[in-house]
Amino acid sequence: MSFQKVGIIGAGTMGSGIATSLAGQGVDVTLVDMTDAALERGMGAVKKFYDRAAEKGKMSADDAAAAVAKVEGATDFQAVADCDLVIEAVFEEFSVKETLYKKLNAILPDSAVLATNTSALKVSELAEAYKDTSRFLGLHYFNPAAINPIVEVVRGEKTDPALFDRALEFCRKTGKKPIACKDHYGFAINRFFVPYGNEAVRLMDEGVGTPAQIDRVARECMEVAAGPFMVMNLVKPKIMYHAQNNLGPHGAFYAIADTLKTRGDSDYEFEIGEDASGDEAADQKIADRLRAAVFFPVLQELDEDVASAADIDMGAALALRFGKAPCELMDALGRDEVRRIVAHVTETYDHAMPASLERVGRLRD
Ligand SMILES: NC(=O)c1ccc[n+]([C@@H]2O[C@H](COP(=O)([O-])OP(=O)(O)OC[C@H]3O[C@@H](n4cnc5c(N)ncnc54)[C@H](O)[C@@H]3O)[C@@H](O)[C@H]2O)c1
Repeated sequence: MSFQKVGIIGAGTMGSGIATSLAGQGVDVTLVDMTDAALERGMGAVKKFYDRAAEKGKMSADDAAAAVAKVEGATDFQAVADCDLVIEAVFEEFSVKETLYKKLNAILPDSAVLATNTSALKVSELAEAYKDTSRFLGLHYFNPAAINPIVEVVRGEKTDPALFDRALEFCRKTGKKPIACKDHYGFAINRFFVPYGNEAVRLMDEGVGTPAQIDRVARECMEVAAGPFMVMNLVKPKIMYHAQNNLGPHGAFYAIADTLKTRGDSDYEFEIGEDASGDEAADQKIADRLRAAVFFPVLQELDEDVASAADIDMGAALALRFGKAPCELMDALGRDEVRRIVAHVTETYDHAMPASLERVGRLRD
């Protein structure tokens, strides 16, 4: 059985995007925020999305209006009392989420399921604030949630397996491509995407290449439409800083690059420049290091059973638009070449070579 009525708490970037996506799939949504102003912004974002879709002829005006009508807004949390799934998308602070869950404990029926859209916090630790840890899980949508097809469905330590399967099915039925994930920092996608950006900054900091050159090499060696600096400017470098910080517990390779660390939480963008030239030796070094920064965490994920090779590749292709997804690329390069590339990480940061290296060549089998 899927979910009939979905409450979304937090009408910001993600909450309004998730509401937009679900409403377009015919799901009844109750969107809640603390203030009228925040709620109006979120409701306005839903309306704007469907108004534009109708203007561009992507859907009829009637269908657009019907989608908008699927979302009702509220600032009173009691409004989610009849929802069978509530997705929390409030600020990324443990205490804010914890306080909210305690409030929901009194509002939601015991049969309700609570999901968090957290990117960085441990789902299993958040679950402890909810009245039934078996009915708690992560539903990590990607920005822009209205159109990005990937959702990481994160199994907390105590999540009921049947509920986990139901959540995967709900994502499929609402037009998404779910990735079944274990509750490890970075889940399936940020675990390698963020270190890849971090490695690009290290290469710049070390003077191996300019941002323009590194972006060009990335486009060639990872078959991406936009290089890491261009993508980091879109995501915002300070978000990458927080995301990389979050990966710290995974070990020395995951330490933050100097520029990201120094500039920390400030608002800035990388200057990319026009001149993408560079000599062949530097290009080769950049390609090897960017690939290593993707391959090493992906092999570790496979060792830790965080997600399947097929799901990791699907996320890379659909959420990040990698033309060659990591496991597919490693299989094509072969074990000896991947060992050579990844040795940079294991030797520089004193990490063990992931056991999954032995399966390279048939990772996708
Ligand atoms: N922005 C992204 O790219 C992205 C991607 C994936 C996941 N996430 C995660 O999604 C969550 C939300 O992120 P966002 O970018 O949408 O944030 P945001 O700042 O755009 O929106 C958060 C909203 O939550 C509301 N809010 C805060 N505390 C609340 C409470 N106690 N009750 C009700 N509403 C409350 C705020 O008023 C605000 O409207 C975070 O956990 C974040 O890590 C963000």
